[in-house]
Amino acid sequence: MRYKIVTYGCQMNVHESEKIAGLLEGMGGVPCGEGESADVIVFNTCCIRGNAERRALGNIGVVKAEKKKNPDLVIAVVGCMTQQSGTAEMVKERYPYVDIVLGTRNIFDLPSEIEKVRASRAAVKKRSDKRYRAFRTEFAEDYLTLDEAAPVARTSFPNAWVNIIYGCNNFCTYCIVPYVRGRELSRPASAVLDEVKRAVDEGYGEITLLGQNVNSYGHDLAGGESFEKLLREIGRIEGKFRVRFMTSHPKDLTDGVIAAMAESDRIAKNIHLPVQSGSDKVLKDMNRRYTRDRYFSLIEKLRAAMPDIGITTDVMVGFPTETEADFEDTLDLVRRVRFSNAFTFIYSPRKGTPAAAMPQLPYAEKRARIGELIKLQNSITKELSEDYVGGVYEVLAEDVSPKHPGMLCGRTESGRLATFPGEREMIGRFVNVRITEARSASLFGTVEE
Ligand code: SAH
Ligand code: SF4
Ligand code: F3S
Repeated sequence: MRYKIVTYGCQMNVHESEKIAGLLEGMGGVPCGEGESADVIVFNTCCIRGNAERRALGNIGVVKAEKKKNPDLVIAVVGCMTQQSGTAEMVKERYPYVDIVLGTRNIFDLPSEIEKVRASRAAVKKRSDKRYRAFRTEFAEDYLTLDEAAPVARTSFPNAWVNIIYGCNNFCTYCIVPYVRGRELSRPASAVLDEVKRAVDEGYGEITLLGQNVNSYGHDLAGGESFEKLLREIGRIEGKFRVRFMTSHPKDLTDGVIAAMAESDRIAKNIHLPVQSGSDKVLKDMNRRYTRDRYFSLIEKLRAAMPDIGITTDVMVGFPTETEADFEDTLDLVRRVRFSNAFTFIYSPRKGTPAAAMPQLPYAEKRARIGELIKLQNSITKELSEDYVGGVYEVLAEDVSPKHPGMLCGRTESGRLATFPGEREMIGRFVNVRITEARSASLFGTVEE
């Protein structure tokens, strides 16, 4: 059984695809090679913005031809998109050749559903009229237990993704995630620590802790668990490795977490702290539950504790109540904070969320705002990049450079991408790179022995 997994969306989904791979390999599957035809195709979808959804649906449309060539092909659609109300039904109607739709918290049923599809097809060939299709998106009660028991086939060496908390309780008014991922569920600390230890023993140099809001880790567990405590415990694990985490919500980032980061040399001096907007009014309408002053004070604390910290963010433009003056406040915040990088998004109405029911801004306005924002951030990123030139930084060699043959790439502790000449064998090793050139967001250099 050759399988192919097509992944959309965030790191959470990238890691979930590693779990799906683990499940498929558990039933004898092997990854489909270049140019081979697959027996099972799984679309692991995202619905954070309209275009993420359109991309997935477009590609699900394209496999119709493949299914015609190979009627035995099993097609499954899973992930966030399927969990929106009405989507499973829509897929059933518009893409009748899709065999299986599963949601975010019943994914562990994938192997048994595949078996059922195959068994019913075998029965059809024996002239019975049995046919099986599964469209199920209910949340499994024992999700955490099933999750701990499931195998993972990692594909991101030397980076190991480790979930610490699932779901989200925050209900930012623009966001679909709480609806499609359900309420927060923290993994037991012992399970997280075991997984980190195992990955470090296997040679993974970088551990990325994943959660929609890592700072709310533990509030649903007994025994006073917290993200700060978890970070400190991970920091005590033996071995050479670096820890990153995402995402941090500004409302829950505590002084304790900042101290834990500063005190451990295993925790990378790097944080992704989505601000979304620089206007207090818009932040309030978004239900973010912090102010721009609170955000500035967090940045100050982080930089006071870790002067070289790399801080990245997410910024959204075109939220329904955003005026030109609000947008100016966002530009002002971006100018003052000087993020090393920012992911910028045009607000996209998501059905069923409060913001989608508000009067919307014209697209042209949103487009103009994001253009201005990107221009500003690019100039800041470029300026900050220049500061690296001449310095020597410890970089984990992560992969061959996708754009520069004969070169490797990896990130500095602060999270900046560096590209340098090197052999494939070096992947997974920490090397010291002298930065010789900065090109906007990318740094170039050579390895120092
Ligand atoms: N849990 C994370 C964010 C996950 S979604 C957090 O709270 O920080 C990643 C980013 O997508 C968000 O930070 C936001 O900037 C963007 N996003 C979420 N919903 C969006 C929408 N409806 N339209 C445009 N961007 C959105
Ligand atoms: Fe969405 Fe807000 Fe939850 Fe992040 S914290 S996943 S933006 S609701
Ligand atoms: Fe997308 Fe789901 Fe992640 S909606 S951004 S894949 S949590």
